[in-house]
Amino acid sequence: VGTKLYIKYHWQSQNVKQSGVDDMVLLSKITEDAIVENLKKRFMDDYIFTYIGPVLISVNPFKQMPYFTDREIETKCPVCICVHTYICMCYACGTYNPIGESGAGKTVAAKYIMGYISKVSGGGGKVQHVKDIILQSNPLLEAFGNAKTVRNNNSSRFGKYFEIQFSRGGEPDGGKISNFLLEKSRVVSQNENERNFHIFYQLIEGSSAQQKEALGIMTPDYYNYLNQSGTYKVDGTNDSKEFQETMEAMQVIGIPGDCQMQALHIVAGILHLGNISFIEAGNYGQVESPDLLAFPAYLLGIDQNWLQEKLTSRKMDSKWGGKSESINVTLNQEQACYTRDALSKALYARLFDYLVEAINKAMQKPIEEFSVGVLDIYGFEIFQRNGFEQFCINFVNEKLQQIFIELTLKAEQEEYVQEGIKWTPIEYFNNKIVCDLIENKLNPPGIMSVLDDVCATMHAKGEGADGTLLQKLQAAVGTHDHFNNWNSGFVIHHYAGKVSYDISGFCERNRDVLFPDLIELMQSSEHAFIRSLFPENLNTDKKGRPTTAGSKIKRQANELVDTLMKCTPHYIRCIKPNETKRPRDWEESRVKHQVEYLGLKENIRVRRAGFAYRRVFKKFLQRYSILTPETYPYWRGEEKQGVLHLLRSVNMDTDQYQMGRTKIFVKNPESLFLLEEMRERKFDTFARAIQKAWRKYIARRKYEQMREEASDILYNSKERRRNSINRNFVGDYLGMEERPELRQFLSKRERIDFADSVTKYDRRFKSIKRDLILTPKGIYLIGREKVKKGPEKGQIKEVLKRKLDIGSIRSVSLSTRQDDFFILHEAQYDSLLESMFKTEFLSLLCKRYEEQTKAKLCLTFNDRLEFRLKKEGWGGGGTRSLVFQRGQGDTAQVKPAGKNLNISVGDGLPKTSKPTRKSMQPTQGGRRQPPSRGMPHCLFKGYQNGAAQFSRASTRSQEQMYSTPDKRSRPPNAALPKLGSQKGRRAPAAQTQNANLDFLNVPDQGMSGMQRKRSISQRPPPAPTSRPKVQPRSHGPRCRSLYQYVGQDVDELSFEANEVIDLVKEDPSGWWTGRLRGKEGLFPGNYVEKI
Ligand SMILES: Nc1ncnc2c1ncn2[C@@H]1O[C@H](COP(=O)(O)OP(=O)(O)OP(=O)(O)O)[C@@H](O)[C@H]1O
Ligand SMILES: [Mg+2]
Repeated sequence: VGTKLYIKYHWQSQNVKQSGVDDMVLLSKITEDAIVENLKKRFMDDYIFTYIGPVLISVNPFKQMPYFTDREIETKCPVCICVHTYICMCYACGTYNPIGESGAGKTVAAKYIMGYISKVSGGGGKVQHVKDIILQSNPLLEAFGNAKTVRNNNSSRFGKYFEIQFSRGGEPDGGKISNFLLEKSRVVSQNENERNFHIFYQLIEGSSAQQKEALGIMTPDYYNYLNQSGTYKVDGTNDSKEFQETMEAMQVIGIPGDCQMQALHIVAGILHLGNISFIEAGNYGQVESPDLLAFPAYLLGIDQNWLQEKLTSRKMDSKWGGKSESINVTLNQEQACYTRDALSKALYARLFDYLVEAINKAMQKPIEEFSVGVLDIYGFEIFQRNGFEQFCINFVNEKLQQIFIELTLKAEQEEYVQEGIKWTPIEYFNNKIVCDLIENKLNPPGIMSVLDDVCATMHAKGEGADGTLLQKLQAAVGTHDHFNNWNSGFVIHHYAGKVSYDISGFCERNRDVLFPDLIELMQSSEHAFIRSLFPENLNTDKKGRPTTAGSKIKRQANELVDTLMKCTPHYIRCIKPNETKRPRDWEESRVKHQVEYLGLKENIRVRRAGFAYRRVFKKFLQRYSILTPETYPYWRGEEKQGVLHLLRSVNMDTDQYQMGRTKIFVKNPESLFLLEEMRERKFDTFARAIQKAWRKYIARRKYEQMREEASDILYNSKERRRNSINRNFVGDYLGMEERPELRQFLSKRERIDFADSVTKYDRRFKSIKRDLILTPKGIYLIGREKVKKGPEKGQIKEVLKRKLDIGSIRSVSLSTRQDDFFILHEAQYDSLLESMFKTEFLSLLCKRYEEQTKAKLCLTFNDRLEFRLKKEGWGGGGTRSLVFQRGQGDTAQVKPAGKNLNISVGDGLPKTSKPTRKSMQPTQGGRRQPPSRGMPHCLFKGYQNGAAQFSRASTRSQEQMYSTPDKRSRPPNAALPKLGSQKGRRAPAAQTQNANLDFLNVPDQGMSGMQRKRSISQRPPPAPTSRPKVQPRSHGPRCRSLYQYVGQDVDELSFEANEVIDLVKEDPSGWWTGRLRGKEGLFPGNYVEKI
């Protein structure tokens, strides 16, 4: 899962702007004051995120920050990098647990994480749908589950654990929400300056006139459930707009239209229920205004009389002498109010559960593989009056603090001891004692157990139960250090401070029973949706001790802890800098208090004394095995020794690590980054080697294919020369890029398919050199002539002797023997040519011919060939013949006899010869190679640029010269020039070239086997090496090195910090190309800044 999110992270890339220290492990003095000071400095500079190792501290800025916009993510702003890195570190099966008090920013942080994951992960239609649901679940659940409190205008009044599930490819493709105890008492009453859940105000403000009429919507002060606190509006909240968003979210989540309608019916129905009031009539509660029953009854789809009856009376089972009888008991006014509120709370809580389930259904996935959980729970809170709900909320926070301690302080230190690492224990407050005070089952029983016992024995309305509870608590935990009594209840000394709980209502709320009468009433609703919220089977569901709210939250909290323990939890510790909710308002003492109770100092100390990284030896070896040959692919000795070998090979300082019993511990993250960087570099080197090999392979395949195709042309028709069959195809043997004198005859961008020096024979079989060039347009034959007149008189100039359009060629004829002659037949006259690379040329010509004419070029093979001569003045015309015979040796011997030219040559390789694949000399790395020739080096001697310099007389000696090494001492393939050998050849050749320009003066050289003497060295050296050195660009993009870099490979640059480098290429891989002091090379882009 981690791969998708992974961007190359370099710790130095954060060195953008500094404010305080971004990892408080680096603080020089670890005191609470220093921590507060650092946080303040950063807060004032708009840096709200700070680390302690892997723990992220977030200070609520109370203002919109431009983090995590598309642009911010793309440009990798420092904060994005911070959080991104944090997320990357934690991504594989982790959970993010924002913890902090109410209003500290947990919900916002959780949303950042969810939004970030959704933004940076890929995915198609289905995935996008899941992402939409993940994001849309927030406004929906916040509308129904959040409310304004005095501490937070958008306070979460429920807990939520959101598991985002991922596909193997790292895309979010499913999810699951577990929700915790909604503070449903808020539906029926709120403290001063607080509000009910947002949805009530949203509905009132945002519904259409039609909806208002259908739902009986009035102004908020009309409803008793809203008008007690005197607060209707929240600064910065647009209830009307948010209503639209809530409805939109329901739509996206796929809640059907009629269910959406029913949900609103329930919300409005609750408001109307709240307006039913009771008067005391002779000890009985009576509905004050029966007309107020009609509307809620209508909205809930129930009978209004029955509603009235159920609000004012209750069925009770009573036993008379072994018989059980059901009797109707009338309720007093207080009981009636209680019943009404119980119905409202139940309706609301069940609607909330329905919404959570609807979201879950929409994200359901058959198999869960990888997941990242995001926890967003209500924060620790202290109000003027703290009731049962605060007790539960603060208990959950206590538990979260406990596992934070377990994992970051306790477990960490225990591990050092276990592994035998040198360690001085660091003291910290372990709040397990407070958790036990609340949740212990026995010895002594905790507060929740006592509470449950009292509830189990209390009567229907349980007057006096709260008093009993207080007494029993005093007896059970009265002497506990973290417990006190006070006149209205008890005090708990929580990890985050002392909270006085008001005992009244504890028992009622803990018991949390919904009377069967009310269930029955709702099951009578004419709306299927409402009936579905009350699925209980009243005849069977009665047995056993009913679960209490307390035991439920205890179970949920412990399940949550188990879940978090199974994954790798990561913490965002949220700090609230003020209670004014204003930006830039820093209340020193408030922050200090949080720093203290969050245990940040201890956290830093353990972190600092401790080790940032640990791995069992085996895993460590696996990860870094690539770094040394001894460890790759496996280390053969003892694992611990292998790890030591690796650490020594990278010269890690010995104070940077300790070897435990089973694990290696590395102190600073930077040391680990060093290892990571080396590993990455190795991969890079190997990747390059693989790329190189692959390119080589591709090039070889291409040439092999070309050679085979070429060979097919001659297959079964012509014998093959021994040295030609397996030689490389180069195409341009003239180095055309550097030959303007030849290029002048071609158009500007004309592509060269083939270019070589060939021998042309005239009517008297006199030979002369021609440069033959094949392009997609045609064949050029270029010769040289002495200028006869003008200022250039006497100079030798290139002349285009003949140009043949591809389409004008009628056929090509060749002998069946191994000679190199071929005749190009054209409408006007034919050209008799001899070329050592005729096969390559012919194959390219055939290809071009077929492309242009859509017909195959006609090739004829015969040992008697005829060629037609050019008509010149009154002479010329007519034909000449070539007669091929069996002779001696591999070099053709030519003998003109009148109109015939007799050519004899020994037997070549059979006509059925095919090139062999592996013999090919591949070109390197796809770069342009100097032309290599299919001849031994010594052949080149005495060979001149341009025309053939052969004489028949010299044939023999020449032949011996080259044939010896070629045939006898080495197999032909070994005779292929080695790439390195060309260097030596180049220099003397340049001299010959200059000295021997007078070759044209010796025109009548005749024919001989000397034609194979040619030298690429006579031609200008091939392009890559002869190109003029590229001048450094003076005004191109440049960058300045931020750090020293020592190149690790020959193609890398080395530089000091603060050097200016010409930027040649910024590669997305992170390896940029630059030029420094005349050398071009690669370097890591994150070591420089662009200037
Ligand atoms: N990172 C932030 N950037 C900007 N504003 C923030 C940020 N974090 C929090 N706030 C502001 O603070 C308010 C309270 O934050 P939030 O709702 O996340 O608190 P909480 O910790 O979830 O509290 P509770 O426990 O009550 O649910 C937000 O509504 C928002 O106005
Ligand atoms: Mg919240």
